[in-house]
Order: sequence, then structure tokens, then C-alpha cells
Amino acid sequence: MFKVAVIGASGLLGRAVVDELVRQQTWDVVATAFSRPGPNTVALDVRDTRAIGQFVEREAPDALVIAAAERRPDVCERHPELARALNVDAVRAIAAAAHRSGAWTLSISTDYVFDGTHPPYRHDSAPAPLNAYGRSKLEGEHALTETTDLGCVLRLPLLYGPIVSWAESAVTSLVPAIAAAASAQGEAAAMDAWAIRYPTFTPDVAYVIRQMLERHAEGNAIRGIVQWSGDEPMTKYEIALRLAHALQLDARLTPQHTPTDTTPRPHNCHLASDRLEQLGIGRRTPFETAIPQVLAAFPWRGDTAA
Ligand SMILES: NC(=O)c1ccc[n+]([C@@H]2O[C@H](COP(=O)([O-])OP(=O)(O)OC[C@H]3O[C@@H](n4cnc5c(N)ncnc54)[C@H](OP(=O)(O)O)[C@@H]3O)[C@@H](O)[C@H]2O)c1
Repeated sequence: MFKVAVIGASGLLGRAVVDELVRQQTWDVVATAFSRPGPNTVALDVRDTRAIGQFVEREAPDALVIAAAERRPDVCERHPELARALNVDAVRAIAAAAHRSGAWTLSISTDYVFDGTHPPYRHDSAPAPLNAYGRSKLEGEHALTETTDLGCVLRLPLLYGPIVSWAESAVTSLVPAIAAAASAQGEAAAMDAWAIRYPTFTPDVAYVIRQMLERHAEGNAIRGIVQWSGDEPMTKYEIALRLAHALQLDARLTPQHTPTDTTPRPHNCHLASDRLEQLGIGRRTPFETAIPQVLAAFPWRGDTAA
């Protein structure tokens, strides 16, 4: 059986990838976690190069998917050393161990490697990150491509999917504010109507990753940089309107037409997905279909727990 190691399997994307692979029953999956170990995960701190080497040697996977990262832009801005350790050094260490054992490495990157001024962006467009998160992820891309020729970077935009807390995705993190703006005493909630995002459903990304793993298993490993994105442009204000509708909440939401973030964020980083599409890879679930599934699996109970 083809063996896949999913590094960071306790996160938003990692869980979706494991679910997709385990459902197939044709993959041998080894999943790692850090602060949130589960019954079927192996503990691994990706800042520990020796532990990575031992893990790869012991498990001898045919492929590794790196979903471990520090993905919160504000945290990366405040703690650049943590961003570097997780988003750059860990990628290099995992790719080096994978290279030694002849395994293919898929590393996940972000649309934030671009400055958002000239969309759409192709896989070979010039990156120009605006913030510490984007800079660290771009360095992580270089770390992968410099370390192994049997590797691939998959750039993704804003993700949402099955969650274990509202804060896990920048889409569902809007729900507590929407609910507060729907309560009798609540004030109207201002929502960003400036930045254009392409929310992308994690089960669709997991499907794409599975298709990429199949190419490798067939002896046609995809190398270099590829991108995958949903195709529905939305501001956070528009996302919030759709969430309020799905939750049947009569929330007072006001559009905020100028950015207010302290961490600079790009305006529109639409990622062209043509390289994967030309390989016959891809799936897009419409937002209107996907978001009710997410909300049904993690119902709003009027709490404000993040
Ligand atoms: N979320 C988005 O909107 C988005 C958009 C574009 C690209 N991406 C990229 O997609 C990838 C997955 O992101 P995500 O949203 O799934 O992130 P996430 O939900 O924050 O998950 C992060 C994962 O990293 C693990 N991790 C953190 N510190 C670790 C350490 N020291 N050692 C080992 N594992 C550690 C976490 O494990 P524990 O939880 O067990 O500690 C968790 O499994 C990242 O590369 C991210 O940059 C995300």
C-alpha cells in the first residue's frame, strides 16, 4: 500500500486530508499532531530536526504532506522567529529527510506570497509578500524547492471547512460577531468590504491533494509550484451576509470599505489554477452548498466560545 505521512493532521486542512485518504481505504496513512494529539496521531514537533529524521526513517512514507504551519498573520507579525521555525526551517528539515528516503513532499503555501495588486496570479508570477506570514511562506517555498527535486508546493487561498472551533477559519471566525449583531442589544458589526477573497473548501483541497498523490503513485509526480482556488470572489462582508442567511440570523452588518487591519493584507490574490486543471485535477463545491454542511456539523448554540 502507498504510504502517506500527513504532518499537521490536527489542523483545519490536515484533518480534511486524512479524512479523504482514510475514506479511500487504499492508502496507508500516518498522521502527526503537536498540541492536539488524537488516538490515531503520532506526536511530532516539527521544530525538532532529529525527531523529524527519526519519524521519516521509522515510517518510511512514499509521500509527505506538510500541513503544519503558523498560518495566523498577526501571530507571524509579532513572532517572526516562530513563523520562521514552522514555515521555513521545518519545511527544509522535512524535505531533507524525505529526500534522503526518496519520498515525494507536498508543502502547502498561500496566496499571501503575492501583493494583491495584479490578479489573477499564475504559479510563475512574481511574488511580493506584504506581511511576515507571506514572507515566511515564500521562504518556505524556496526551502522546499532548494532541498528536494522530488517536491511540490501547493498554494491555496482562504480556507474553510469542517471546524472544531469558530476561530479555526477566517470564514467561520465571523460567526460570533454576526450573532452578536443579531441580538437585541447588539450593535451593528462592521465587516471588511475591501479585500477580495476566494474561499476554498478544505474537502475540495483534500480531493485535489489525493489526486496529486495518485499522480505520484502512478510514477508521474508533480513538481514545482501549483495553485488551487475556489472561483467565487467575496469580501468578508459578503461572506458574513451569506453566513447570516445560512444561520437565519437577522444581523445588522455594515460594509467597511477601507482596510483597518494592523497587519497589511493584500487586496486580491486570485490564484489561477490552470496547471492542475490541465492535468484533470480539481473539484469546486459551491459556497452555498458547502457552508450549510460546515454549520450543520458545528451548530451555533448562541455561545461566544472561540
Ligand atoms: N487556513 C487558511 O485560510 C489558509 C490559507 C492559505 C494557506 N494555508 C496554509 O495551509 C496549511 C494548513 O493550514 P491550516 O489552516 O490547516 O492550519 P491550522 O489549522 O492552524 O493547523 C496547523 C497545524 O500545524 C500543527 N503545528 C503547529 N505547531 C506545530 C509544531 N511545533 N510541530 C508540529 N506541528 C505543529 C498544528 O498541530 P496542533 O494543532 O496539534 O498543535 C496543526 O496540525 C498551512 O501551510 C497554511 O499556511 C491556510
